[in-house]
Amino acid sequence: MNAERAGVTLRVEQTPERLAELAASEILAVLGTALAWRGEAHLCLSGGSTPTLLHAALVRHTFDGWPHVHVWFGDERCVPSDHADSNARMADETLLRHVGIADLHVHRLAGDRDPAEAAAQYHGALQDLAERAQAEVPTFDVLILGMGDDAHTASIFPGSPLLDHLDAAPAPPWAAAVHVPKLDAWRLTLTPAVLCAATATVVLVTGAGKHEALRRVLTRGVPIADAPARLLERATGDLAWFVDTGALFG
Ligand code: 6PG
Repeated sequence: MNAERAGVTLRVEQTPERLAELAASEILAVLGTALAWRGEAHLCLSGGSTPTLLHAALVRHTFDGWPHVHVWFGDERCVPSDHADSNARMADETLLRHVGIADLHVHRLAGDRDPAEAAAQYHGALQDLAERAQAEVPTFDVLILGMGDDAHTASIFPGSPLLDHLDAAPAPPWAAAVHVPKLDAWRLTLTPAVLCAATATVVLVTGAGKHEALRRVLTRGVPIADAPARLLERATGDLAWFVDTGALFG
């Protein structure tokens, strides 16, 4: 079942597995188009556990463009890259080592560095990307995001100060270090300006545990501070919510 609203698509599948297959096909189609036009493509990965099924589906597909794809990360935990919680480690284990992406094309957030320094370094890399593309804001061809059961996305959690200036014109910094009180942990995250600039944004939400958060995010009028994933309503590109029936119907 698909539903369309101006620039926003809702893709629904019965199971996370079928959803991952559908999302993988659409992601590779967008990357293929970018490669045909520019000879390179930029893909930003999500952290968490939901993407593992999607990564497996991407690996199963035949796609010979991977050597020309640059991979970025929407957020990272402030842990070493070999830590069990590292998003970069999860991406490497489930996708990157299987598809032949040059390590030079993998742009990791440095979870093992001082958070402010790591954010500044990533901001610089993203600024280079924007300048090379002569774009105001760093723009990924595909941005993959997840959503927590508190409606956070990337590492923008409810009450985040990064949500304070959403109505202002997109402006740097493109990456930030944030302390997350509920986790009592530092995170590195892309800022809303970058999260809303991608050509195609794919948000993957599965499981009944996400139903209440998804309901709030898809309900107009809910304050963005209480449901940060609602910031994606500001996405300037195509936005597709890929959800399973568990998340949609509870
Ligand atoms: C992270 C993610 C985060 C994630 C949600 C959902 O680093 O945790 O980037 O935004 O997408 O927390 O996580 P799950 O997929 O594990 O439910």
